[in-house]
Amino acid sequence: MTPSDTEFIRAVDLLVAGELVAFPTETVYGIGADAANPAAVAKIFAAKGRPADHPLIVHLAAADWIRYWAQNIPDPAWEIMEAFWPGPLTVILEKQAWVPDAITGGQKTVGLRVPGHPVALELLRRFAASNDKGGIAAPSANRFGRISPTTATHVAAELGERVALILDGGACTVGIESTIVDFSRQQPVILRPGHIAPAHLAAVLGMEPPIETAEGAPRVSGSLPAHYAPSTAMRMLAKAEISNQLHSNTVALLIHSPDLQTCADALPKSAFNLLPDDPVGYAHALYAALRDLDNCGADVILVEQTPDTPAWSAVNDRLRRALAGSA
Ligand code: TXA
Ligand code: MG
Repeated sequence: MTPSDTEFIRAVDLLVAGELVAFPTETVYGIGADAANPAAVAKIFAAKGRPADHPLIVHLAAADWIRYWAQNIPDPAWEIMEAFWPGPLTVILEKQAWVPDAITGGQKTVGLRVPGHPVALELLRRFAASNDKGGIAAPSANRFGRISPTTATHVAAELGERVALILDGGACTVGIESTIVDFSRQQPVILRPGHIAPAHLAAVLGMEPPIETAEGAPRVSGSLPAHYAPSTAMRMLAKAEISNQLHSNTVALLIHSPDLQTCADALPKSAFNLLPDDPVGYAHALYAALRDLDNCGADVILVEQTPDTPAWSAVNDRLRRALAGSA
């Protein structure tokens, strides 16, 4: 699914005029504004209801634009960008002096990413042709603390009239937010786990960066203990406990073990979701599943426990925060 030429032209006109445009990336949909225009960036915070000290990721068409935004870029950061861009990876680097506080939350660093989605890249290339900095600031296109959108329909449900235009690029392939790696310190550190796992980074860096999600610190809002949350209460249960909990018809179920498929018989169709039993497939489908179950009328969403292994760390991170943030 690709927007028409007219829609791309309108999107760039809106961005240049300081308005908001939602667009797809391979991770989740973003709500974008001209990153060099603080008044436009302020509209993102208003639309999301997001606290103003939370920094934003600047999206670029290619690594060529990076020197406008960052300085003193260490070699390992270049190697990571070379290996994973365009793709689901954000780097935190020392910012250039001019970069507005509205983007960085007043910090000396800036988050940068070249997304791996054809619609995002087309928008970024066209925008860069109209603007010497070429950056689109874009957090996930959800209201603050809620489930990130992975389709254009989700964006409309989250933000509606608050965004001037939504470019529809179909469903996001990755489904959870980018891996964030901080290169502004002595050693690289993962601030948010994602599809690009520590082992993938190690293949380039020669070491696995530690994961430091800084509980309670607002530098990464996805690192707040409560985030990505449905309005319905959520509980996580071990596989063996699930079948005992299905007596109530106000329960919704999110599972990944195929042999629990029989639980579907006890529930309305809309209250049952079997996700793939691998972390990549699970991540791809997770937010859409939570959104559907949140809307099915159940009093509680029961989540089958996921494996506690490194391969599942990004999924477990999102589930932990959704559990902390649900009613
Ligand atoms: O996959 C993604 O990264 C999506 C798509 C739209 O690109 N974007 C996204 O944006 O997840 P957002 O704002 O929902 O999350 C970006 C995270 C925030 O938690 C923010 O705190 C962190 O990146 N971040 C941005 N700049 C930072 C900086 N200078 N230092 C530390 N964290 C930063
Ligand atoms: Mg977000």
